[in-house]
This record gives sequence, structure tokens and C-alpha cells, in this order.
Amino acid sequence: MAFPEGFLWGAATAAHQVEGNNVASDFWALEHASGSSFAEPSGDACDHYRLFRQDIALLAELGFNSYRFSIEWARVEPEDGTFSQAAIEHYRDVLQACHDHSLTPVVTLHHFSSPRWLMELGGWEYEKTPARFAAYCGKVMSELGPLIPYVCTINEANIGPLIRDVLTATSQGGRDASGAPVGVTDGAAEDGENDRDALSPVEAVPTDRDWPKIFLFTFSEQGVSIVQRAHTAARQAIRDASPSTRVGLTLALQDIQPVPGGEKQAERTWAQTFEDFLPAMDGDDFLGVQSYTRSLVGPDGPLPAPDGAETTQMGYEFYPQALENVLRRAATAGMPLLVTEHGIGTADDSRRIEFIRQGLAGLERVLADGVDVRGYLHWSALDNYEWMLGYRPTFGLITVDRTTQRRTPKASARYLGALAQRNPPA
Ligand code: BGC
Repeated sequence: MAFPEGFLWGAATAAHQVEGNNVASDFWALEHASGSSFAEPSGDACDHYRLFRQDIALLAELGFNSYRFSIEWARVEPEDGTFSQAAIEHYRDVLQACHDHSLTPVVTLHHFSSPRWLMELGGWEYEKTPARFAAYCGKVMSELGPLIPYVCTINEANIGPLIRDVLTATSQGGRDASGAPVGVTDGAAEDGENDRDALSPVEAVPTDRDWPKIFLFTFSEQGVSIVQRAHTAARQAIRDASPSTRVGLTLALQDIQPVPGGEKQAERTWAQTFEDFLPAMDGDDFLGVQSYTRSLVGPDGPLPAPDGAETTQMGYEFYPQALENVLRRAATAGMPLLVTEHGIGTADDSRRIEFIRQGLAGLERVLADGVDVRGYLHWSALDNYEWMLGYRPTFGLITVDRTTQRRTPKASARYLGALAQRNPPA
């Protein structure tokens, strides 16, 4: 395989999904609210806040040269304007552990969860959120910038428009930003089955406009603009504090494929989830691309997977070809690309291996055509907390026994790690 010099091979996590006890965050509050639509609370998660050294050592041992993780705003700034030096020192230790194991850290400053106090102010619909977010980013980067070569300001900055798209679809239900059919809560979809119940109309996502303005449910024009302004304000704060760090954001990019009659809708979805973000990205150093599946689009929005298609634990189609297609389209942004997520929820690890194999084959074709892709970071390093769906979906390269917190690498971890070893950076 022909991978460029310095190509990043790794896996990704997000703080709330692995660290455990993220008690000052909005998600923690929602998980414990009465009538919560979360399948279960995150609890200790993978106890990664305590076990990060062993996890990082394991990734290095498996053969990777990069680790993407997120810094948790709710820990660094647990109250508005009050920063926790202890939390900053914790993340300094995490970064140092990466460097000690020759893993290039790719840091995300916001991966869905925010401090609870921000939600109380109006969350991602609040005019001053961009300034608040930039202040947090500036603080982190002034402390830790020299240890951070790549930073993603916001994970899936386009998730609001994607979820809005799903909610406004009047037909057979739809998918969330990662391509997941929103509302899969009952464990009905299993690998290899095309379970139509899993694609029933949205259940788990609240449509009540009084729902707290957490990042995932920022649907309004105002909210989308706030997210975009938060990115540009953060980029400036990061550049001021740490000029040598490369800055970008990540987008959930669906391989949007119109069925006859769906062409206009497909164009609209692509415009709202990609083109509308280009002005905010102008001046970025890279774009993080996140791909899970394709989205078939009819005149009214997303459609279910075709009859008989293999589906994943998330209910959506097994479609590793999506990565190649979205990388080609994302290249029109005119900046280096980094695959910051590509993964599959499955109990059958041989399907994960196949998903990676086909995804990387597509990535190689894209590279051969001259597209500048800097790395491949698989989602996820560990079986972790899949937001509203709890711990049922298993995306990890590494199994986690959540009683003993014992880690066991799956065959897919060894497969991807061996590929990384065979294609070391020059
Ligand atoms: C998110 C992850 C999530 C993954 C799998 C992505 O949209 O960034 O946090 O776990 O998809 O659904």
C-alpha cells in the first residue's frame, strides 16, 4: 500500500464515552433526569480517566502511531469562568503519555458534551457561547498547546442540520449524523438483519422545542450559526495561544445517494451539511472526515436501507464504500483531509475487519488519485458509551469488561495495528 510520509494510523475516543463520571456535563444531567430517553447512564464508562496510561500503552503495542481523544470542557471549566488546574494537569499527563509512546495526539476540544452551566445559560442557542467556547479553547491551548500537534475544535459541527433533516423527513424515519437511524433504542437490530423496526420514525430524539439546547439538538438557523461562529472564534484563540498547532473541525459526512426523484433533496442535504460550513472552515489547516454508511435520499429525506441489505447494530447499512465516496467529495474543500472516524457497531468482529479492509481499499484509491489524506483514525479504540443507546452497540477495536475494566484487543485491533506497522511513516 502506498501511504504518504507521516500518515497517521490510530483509533479515536471521546471523553464522555470513555472517561466515566463526567458529572459536571450536560449529558450526565440528561442521563439522570426523570423520564430520560437514555437507555442507561454512562457511570464509570471505561474508567479511562484513571486507566488512560494502560490504554495508550496498549494502542502503541498494537502498532498505532496516533491517538485521537477529546478534552472535556465540563472538567476543565466545571463552573462558568472557573478553570480546574487539576483537570488541565490530567490532560497534560494524557498528552505526555501519548508522546512517551510515540503516538501523535489528535485532540478534540468539544465532542458533543458541554458543561451543565452552559445548558443553563441557553447552551448552543446562546449568543455568547462562541466567546465562552473560545475562552476555554484559549485556556487549554495556552497550557497544553506545545504538546498538541493537531486540534479539532468541534466534533461533527454539522450534526444539527443532519438531525433536523431526519426530523423533518416525513417518510420512513432517518439517520443521525453518523448515519444512525435515530430512535433505535430497543436492541432490535442485529448484525446481518435488515430490521425495519430499527428504522421506524424518530422516537428517542425529542422534538419539544423546550428541550435543553445541548449541542446535539441545535437545529435552528441561529444554533447552526452559533456552532460555526464558535469554531471561528476558537480557531483564532488557538492560533493566538499555540501558533504551531494545526486546527480544523470534523464533519459527519454521509455518502448521500439520491433515489430517482430525490436529487434535489440530496443536493439540499449536502449543501446544509457540507457547503454551508465552508465559509467557517476558510482558514483551517485540515478537515476531519467521519464516515459510517451511505444515506439513500428520496424526495422527502433519508430512506431506510434497501431490502435485504446487511445492517449493523445501529440499524444502518453495512456500506464501507462510503468512505471513498465522501473523501472524494470532501476534497472539494481544498484542504488536507484526516479520517477522524470510520467504524462499525457489530458483535461480529470479522465484519469489522472487512469494513476496515474495504474502507482502506477505497482510501488507497483516493490517495492514488492525488487527494491529500493525512491519516486514518478508527472509531473506536474501546467498546464505549454510545450516547442515548448506552453500552449495547460495540464499536471498539478493544473489548472492555465493564465490571473488571479488563481490556482485550479484538482481532480487528491486531489487523489494523499490523497494517500500521507495515506502512510506517517514512
Ligand atoms: C460520533 C461518536 C459516536 C459514533 C458512532 C459519531 O457520530 O462522533 O461519538 O460514538 O459516531 O455512532
